[in-house]
Amino acid sequence: MVEVDAAFIQALEHRPKPAVVEAEGIPLIDLSAINSSDSAAVAALAAEIGRACETWGFFQVINHGVPLACREKMESASRKFFAQSLDEKLKVRRDEKNPVGYHDGEHTKNVRDWKEVYDFVRKVPTIIPASPEPDDREVVLLHNQWPNYPPNFREVWEEYVVEIEKLAYKLLELISLSLGLPGNRLKNFFDDQTSFLRLNYYPRCPVPDLALGVGGHKDADGLTVLAQDDVGGLEVRRKSDGEWVRVKPTPNAYIINVGDLIQVWSNDRYESVEHRVTVNSERDRFSIPFFFNPAHTTVVEPLEELVDEHRPSKYRDFNWGKFIAARNLSNYKKLHVDNLQIYHFSLSALNDLH
Ligand code: OGA
Ligand code: NI
Repeated sequence: MVEVDAAFIQALEHRPKPAVVEAEGIPLIDLSAINSSDSAAVAALAAEIGRACETWGFFQVINHGVPLACREKMESASRKFFAQSLDEKLKVRRDEKNPVGYHDGEHTKNVRDWKEVYDFVRKVPTIIPASPEPDDREVVLLHNQWPNYPPNFREVWEEYVVEIEKLAYKLLELISLSLGLPGNRLKNFFDDQTSFLRLNYYPRCPVPDLALGVGGHKDADGLTVLAQDDVGGLEVRRKSDGEWVRVKPTPNAYIINVGDLIQVWSNDRYESVEHRVTVNSERDRFSIPFFFNPAHTTVVEPLEELVDEHRPSKYRDFNWGKFIAARNLSNYKKLHVDNLQIYHFSLSALNDLH
């Protein structure tokens, strides 16, 4: 019997099932038309993305414009970083004061995840509120912590994040178009973005049927652009029947999912879908999500163009910065209460027993 810290053990109902359902039908979308001067081709692409957002909340993209060499260098640098001793990695550890850096004790829904992460903010400095208290105007400035090894890490990271950000803006434009809005409708929210790039490392796990790499969760961001390797393990809650289905790795594709903010902006037309990561006892797994987030000052609420008497607003407005400040607190310890979720701002759920 292997000894595993009880903090990792999932409650029975959350444990992965031995039989994995391979996802049939998660859309694979070719983005080549985005640079086309043919407006009908761009409109058709936007419509395809809209359908994917409505049906799955998840899709994969190819011909996305991120150079393969750039991605491979980032993946290789990530492997080299995580292969170091824990002592080395802890030199760039993050903590409650500075939530940017290496971390091996993350909790999702208060159970410990079987993974290590290394976070970097896109913009330096990234400004966020110092506390969730509504009247506290103090902010903190976040800076990245660069590792000593591998030596070219920072250079590789900087090249990669520029490419990923371009892709995120393209997707934002297509999603806006798909909602019948001007392509640049959501763009300004991201001018002082609080986005971050995360390196995920899921070590081999001796109890893959009891633990999860990341427990079931929804991404609390605008949208996520994720590179996964060829191991597999990402599972998405299928909207049609609630079944967990696996997103099959597609070489050089990116996995895109709608986050909580697009759910609110679209007034629930596009839902942020629950997903999780299973681990295995044979191979380490690596992934690199980019969480595309707006400025901390953003007041998030359904877009006025999408609200009318037939489609009343489903959310009361909230401040994005205060939301993340509240969430950050819960990432470090097992709390005995649910952490803050967007349904807490849902008007229809006000009387629900969440
Ligand atoms: C996440 C996440 C998926 C993966 O980090 O939020 O869902 O495949 N990751 O690593
Ligand atoms: Ni996620």
